[in-house]
Amino acid sequence: MEGYHRSVLLGEAIDALEVKRDEWYLDCTLGDGGHSLEIIKRDGKVVGIDTDPEALARAQKRFSEEGIKEDRFKLVLGNFRDLKNLLPASQRGEQTETKFAGVLFDLGVSSLQLETPERGFSFGKEGPLDMRMDPSLQVQAKDLLQVLSRKELYELFKNLGEEKYSWALANALVSAREIKTTVELARMVERVVGGKRGKVHPATRVFQALRIAVNSELDSLSEALPQALEVLNKNGRIVVISFHSLEDRIVKNLFKRWKSEGMGEVITKKPVMPSKMEVDENPRSRSAKMRIFQK
Ligand SMILES: C[S@@+](CC[C@H](N)C(=O)[O-])C[C@H]1O[C@@H](n2cnc3c(N)ncnc32)[C@H](O)[C@@H]1O
Repeated sequence: MEGYHRSVLLGEAIDALEVKRDEWYLDCTLGDGGHSLEIIKRDGKVVGIDTDPEALARAQKRFSEEGIKEDRFKLVLGNFRDLKNLLPASQRGEQTETKFAGVLFDLGVSSLQLETPERGFSFGKEGPLDMRMDPSLQVQAKDLLQVLSRKELYELFKNLGEEKYSWALANALVSAREIKTTVELARMVERVVGGKRGKVHPATRVFQALRIAVNSELDSLSEALPQALEVLNKNGRIVVISFHSLEDRIVKNLFKRWKSEGMGEVITKKPVMPSKMEVDENPRSRSAKMRIFQK
């Protein structure tokens, strides 16, 4: 795959973290390290977590190419839902980083994942229906299509894809259990719901629903955010960039609750969205929303 992941809301997110010299920041979604690199360039230090071993290898390579010194960052393999348990792995010499001046989540998949056909995230590229961000997970998207009942498939597409043709799709899928590739699934969805709806491919929501389920994305986020608040220093900020309404709702509601419990302040009354220029240059940023909470 060509080039590194194009970081969404890069300047806005790093400004929001108000990076201070030699303070530690926790990047829970390292990816290609775009956001982390910017924190380091502003003299911060980073513990970067990712559940995908390839992301760690690529970020490590990128940081060396950029001449970043090893003592400015530490990369940790794991799921951010285990955030607190993962932090001992960020031990450097005598010291373990357990408190941070800021925490960042840039949710969803990276270009690496999206554009590698064998990972199965993209309906435009023929590949196995896999969709695991963490390759050690047991269940792939194709397994869900085989084992879920008609009603479970319907609920999956309705709840996690907000797909209005969920019932028709669930019906079609129970008689096409042998579907194993991304393009086969995309074609089947096209047959059931018709061609393109505006700029959005008809299979977008089905793929989103399967990906969220395979990676337990909503549960992981709900479990990680309270841990992020715990490891945050007073006056530190949590910055979350999300890409669909289900994630954004979790973030928005939790931030509101924290405020009502006197845990801190919601900095973003309305979410920060990418500029038109950013959307034109990077269409993936179109649905991005960033919310900020200060402890
Ligand atoms: C959108 S990319 C991050 C891109 C990064 N900010 C950059 O600028 O290069 C999201 C990354 O988060 C990782 N990720 C998603 N969910 C995760 C989870 N629950 N735990 C750890 N990493 C996760 C994915 O594997 C992916 O590499």
